[in-house]
Amino acid sequence: MSQFDQSITLPSGVQLKNRLMLSPMTTQLSFFNGVITEDEITYYKQRSKGLGAVITGAANVQDIGKGWPGELSIAHDEMIPRLSELAKAIQGEGAKAIIQIFHGGRMTSRATLSGEQPVSASAVAAKRPDAETPRAMSEEEIVETIQAFGKATRRAIESGFDGIELHGANTYLIQQFFSPHSNRRTDHWGGSVEKRMNFGLAVVQAAHRAIAKYAGDHFMLGYRISPEEIEEPGIRLADTLQFIDELADQPLDYLHVSMGNVWRKSLNDDSEKRPTILRIKKQVHNRLPIIGVGSVETTADAEKVMDEGIDFVALGRESLREPQWVEKVARGHEDAIRYQVDSDALDELGLNPALMDFLGQIGTDLRFIGADREKRSGDSVVFDR
Ligand SMILES: Cc1cc2nc3c(=O)[nH]c(=O)nc-3n(C[C@H](O)[C@H](O)[C@H](O)COP(=O)(O)O)c2cc1C
Repeated sequence: MSQFDQSITLPSGVQLKNRLMLSPMTTQLSFFNGVITEDEITYYKQRSKGLGAVITGAANVQDIGKGWPGELSIAHDEMIPRLSELAKAIQGEGAKAIIQIFHGGRMTSRATLSGEQPVSASAVAAKRPDAETPRAMSEEEIVETIQAFGKATRRAIESGFDGIELHGANTYLIQQFFSPHSNRRTDHWGGSVEKRMNFGLAVVQAAHRAIAKYAGDHFMLGYRISPEEIEEPGIRLADTLQFIDELADQPLDYLHVSMGNVWRKSLNDDSEKRPTILRIKKQVHNRLPIIGVGSVETTADAEKVMDEGIDFVALGRESLREPQWVEKVARGHEDAIRYQVDSDALDELGLNPALMDFLGQIGTDLRFIGADREKRSGDSVVFDR
């Protein structure tokens, strides 16, 4: 029996049958208004068997929070019936269903928002080509957005999901409030590192209140973070460790550490020789379960994460290439696991051209990446900050 094949009970009381999760990955398959399509349901069904939990790709909590075309939405009550179909499809394969909820903040465009200017903590554009300058949110908008996370949590519960994950990573709005690059405010929401934590903590509390009111207990609340940014000013590991100290005392079920490679070291401090995930584990000090993710492909990769006492492993790109990863491992058919895909298998794998385009833009080629492990380790800076 592998270490990742052991059940665990989370702080909320939800029991997961093993330590493997599907990492949240947008499929870009939703309708223009964020309603889930049949193709998307098929994609999740294909990948759910055998996993302890499936975390869906990011779903926006407000229309203004839409980050890209084809994105899932949880912004309106009318979406509940189709979202319940998604939850049922995942649960029907025996996995717990977690929906990731988010707001894109400045990481979007007027084109995606039908002409509206993107919003963020402050009017500072991201340091990316063609980034648009967002409008700074008013105090009232901030409060509304926090409430929108609460309402989205209620919709997730009414849709029958087993949990939500707050997307506080990968440069989107929750991270934008924590980042000194995107947050230049001097009010309750910005200034000191403590004040930059206020938005994320308020979102946790809004979600928790909705869970207490509508789910009672046995509903998971997770939080995803990106430990560092490379911008100057930007989030440094010391800030994150301080934030994690606060998060570890919140009513959370897990902390999900988003990195392109689970063993990555500091992006900013070359003298730091320890993998960031181990520094985070030390800071959490067993107060919360931790999910490690990033370039895990083989069973040996997954075992290594478990060996270091990390509670869960999430599979991202490898599950795009090999939806039956867990089933093949369970049946002892590890040698049949696919580490690269042929172009003519894309349909069978539920990988649409828009997703392949997106993967190309972020420098991931599913046809080669698994075959070239050396090349792979430096490939994914896009998920690292
Ligand atoms: C196509 C694609 C879509 C992604 N979408 C999301 C997303 O919606 N939310 C999120 O938190 N991370 C997203 N990610 C990041 C993954 O969850 C994961 O952290 C990253 O791919 C590294 O893990 P891996 O090496 O196992 O792929 C996405 C990654 C890929 C490849």
